[in-house]
Amino acid sequence: MGQEKRERSGENQTECGYEAEHLQKVREMAPECMVLLKSDGSFPLEEPGKIALYGSGARRTLKGGRGSADVYVKSYSTVEQGLENAGFRITTGYWMDAYEEEWKKARVNFRAWLKGKIAVEGMERLMENLSIVMPEPEYEIPLTGKGETAVYVLSRLCGEGVDRQDVPGDFLLTQTEIRDILRLQEQYPRFLLVLNMACIVDLSPVAEKVGNILLLSQPGQAVGDAFADVLLGRAYPSGKLTATWAKREDYGFLEFGQRDDTRYREGIYVGYRYFDSVGKKPVFHFGHGLGYTDFSLTCKAVSRESTEIRALVSVKNTGSRKGKEVVQLYVSVPEGKLDQPMQTLAAFAKTKELAPGEETELMLSFSMESLASTDAVLHAKILEEGRYVLRMGNSSGNTQVVGVVELLEKVITEKLFSVGGETDFDDWKPGVGSGEYESAEQSADKGKAEIPETETMRIPASAFRQAVREVPAVNPDALAFVKSLPDEELAYLCTGDYLGEGSQNVIGDSAITVVGAAGETTGRFRDRGVRNVVFADGASGLRLTRLYGIDEKGTYPIKEDNPLMEIENPMELLPEAMVKALTAMLPEIQPEERHGEIHEQNCTAVPVGTALAQTWNVNLVRECAAIVAEEMDHFGIQVLLAPSLNIQRHPLCGRNFEYYSEDPLISGKIAAAYVDGIQKTPGGKRAATLKHFICNNQDTNRFRTSSMVGERALRDIYARGFEIAVREAAPRCIMSSYNLLNGVHTSERPDLLETLLRREWGYQGMVMSDYMTGDKDAYAEKNKYRKFASAPSVKAGNDLMMPGGKAHYENILNALQGKDNEYALTRQEVEKCAARNVALAWELQELSPEN
Ligand code: BGC
Repeated sequence: MGQEKRERSGENQTECGYEAEHLQKVREMAPECMVLLKSDGSFPLEEPGKIALYGSGARRTLKGGRGSADVYVKSYSTVEQGLENAGFRITTGYWMDAYEEEWKKARVNFRAWLKGKIAVEGMERLMENLSIVMPEPEYEIPLTGKGETAVYVLSRLCGEGVDRQDVPGDFLLTQTEIRDILRLQEQYPRFLLVLNMACIVDLSPVAEKVGNILLLSQPGQAVGDAFADVLLGRAYPSGKLTATWAKREDYGFLEFGQRDDTRYREGIYVGYRYFDSVGKKPVFHFGHGLGYTDFSLTCKAVSRESTEIRALVSVKNTGSRKGKEVVQLYVSVPEGKLDQPMQTLAAFAKTKELAPGEETELMLSFSMESLASTDAVLHAKILEEGRYVLRMGNSSGNTQVVGVVELLEKVITEKLFSVGGETDFDDWKPGVGSGEYESAEQSADKGKAEIPETETMRIPASAFRQAVREVPAVNPDALAFVKSLPDEELAYLCTGDYLGEGSQNVIGDSAITVVGAAGETTGRFRDRGVRNVVFADGASGLRLTRLYGIDEKGTYPIKEDNPLMEIENPMELLPEAMVKALTAMLPEIQPEERHGEIHEQNCTAVPVGTALAQTWNVNLVRECAAIVAEEMDHFGIQVLLAPSLNIQRHPLCGRNFEYYSEDPLISGKIAAAYVDGIQKTPGGKRAATLKHFICNNQDTNRFRTSSMVGERALRDIYARGFEIAVREAAPRCIMSSYNLLNGVHTSERPDLLETLLRREWGYQGMVMSDYMTGDKDAYAEKNKYRKFASAPSVKAGNDLMMPGGKAHYENILNALQGKDNEYALTRQEVEKCAARNVALAWELQELSPEN
């Protein structure tokens, strides 16, 4: 490939002490990610012994998901290995061998089916088709493993580029799975159903009958060993769900997965906000999670200081084992002009480890302003007068009223600009249109619960001050630097670096400095004091090519088998014409003899996003990000393309495993902690990237699908987590999303990038585009929407086009020189973006290990 290998910082190829240390840390974190959904007290086990192990994830255990959040590791422990390492004698080797055969047979059929689909649907949908996950097959294998204890590991793979399928073997259980799980429940004295997934399945066919269910999730590289720790009670699960688990038909109210326009008609009623408001009981509530012990919660006092509300809660371990509990504080906001969900999460806190009998106190607090809703007509955030009912509990389905705050007058907490554009529908409200509103048991007392007078705190409008805004200026020195540059150099500053004339904008191709990284900013100005900044994914740990060689032509990646890619060798699935076209586009995929010394880049796979959020533990999240931060320094990466915090709007979204929650508060708090862990861990100066801004809630037709969202839902649900993370943690980078918002690409919307992010939230960092799309769109005419393009993106304040390529560069330069009249760019517009990129490079090189 003729890659130039630029000097790398902080790297020491032989030192690998960090690997064992990070693996151990990830093993210790994993149990906090796990959610014990049901328990009849049969677990944990006292000691290892004979065990009958079944299920798709027993040997094919998943440590994480597929796509840019996948991490290439040297090895990881499967459930089978974890149990063996812990001393269990597994009696079902025959079952796992037979399952492997069934899986391979199914894959042959799946490949044949896919080949047909690709031939019909052609190049345009190639990546989407190649990303489809094979649903679990049906089979019959006898369940005759010996032992008193059986464990069934049900796994589901999700990934980027395509959404999940609403079929048995993906979102639904197969007949085989239902049959086997129910039989095992009958057959063994002790049975545990283990869910090795970071997404939702419709568990309704088995959830009631099975006594013990553990959501193992996808907690990273030590998944199998950590599971054995939990099974033996050497560690305990203390996670809670961050999404509502319901049966399939209960999600029917959501429009999802349209290729052109997907209408978010449900407005703010996402997840528990919907289920609790219409009184639909899900399979498992948002926030639910048991442990190996029990807790009692007592709210000792509710108080107010100015507009901050505090609840002092005492938590006592009333069981016989150690554990940690998460206390959740919800608020029922009174309805007035605006409708409101039955309750909204306002604060949460997790205890330290509590021994049996031990008691501790937690202070939960939130500001009244954080409960304000967007009034899109008034262009303001408002709090309406009335009674705000505080509910404390340990899941959205188990709360008790602990106080009331009465607001005496309506308050405008913030004046807003108009953002996001128009929709052609009105947002759904409970009781309107669909006939869905069967007044919920819990919502009966909404806002008018019988609370003793003494517990009501009155709060006057004078307690509030309207938010003051400071619009951040672009760094004046960086601006002065770019002003002196010719147009060509300005354009280079706004695109990722790429390898010369023939170069395509492809991720692996663009990794000049670190093999398999996700590209970098331009290196043309190194001798003028602006270093190139190196970017890498991702959301579950650093994603680099694990092995690479160096020969006289430069560095080159060495391909290894990826256990998550069931379509190894995709070329065999393509019609001949397509292979030719692809080969012409990507010359480097032709095999070429390379040799030379081989190097390793071993990164740690940390828990996936959903698993991390399920800890509800911001300190743990910070420590987890610190692992990634240390590896960034080790390999010379300055910008991490994470955290991913889109809202888990619908269970079929392929990337939900990367994301944190259906709730914006938990998404924002977890993301803020992650950003802190990346940016503030001592040792180097690094940037975290919030992505994907915004409403990137499906992967079907991901480059051209438009999320149609009303302004209230946009701000109060989809933007809120980003806002929290921007305000609390000041990330240095944000990535715009592939999708359009109300018919216009997010990267091309100044109202999002300049008005909302910078003017309203005071965001000071840079914005980059998402990857591999843009300027040469062969299918623009055939689709309702084209892909996003560089010139209009730069015009809107999207500072950097990634990963970069000739087409990006030319698009910007032409627009700047008046050769593209549709998107004419002024010097000032490009200078502003270029200066933000220079400012990032300066900031990162200031303290980087290279200095
Ligand atoms: C994904 C991003 C990722 C980027 C670089 C894109 O396809 O949407 O999340 O950071 O690739 O790998």
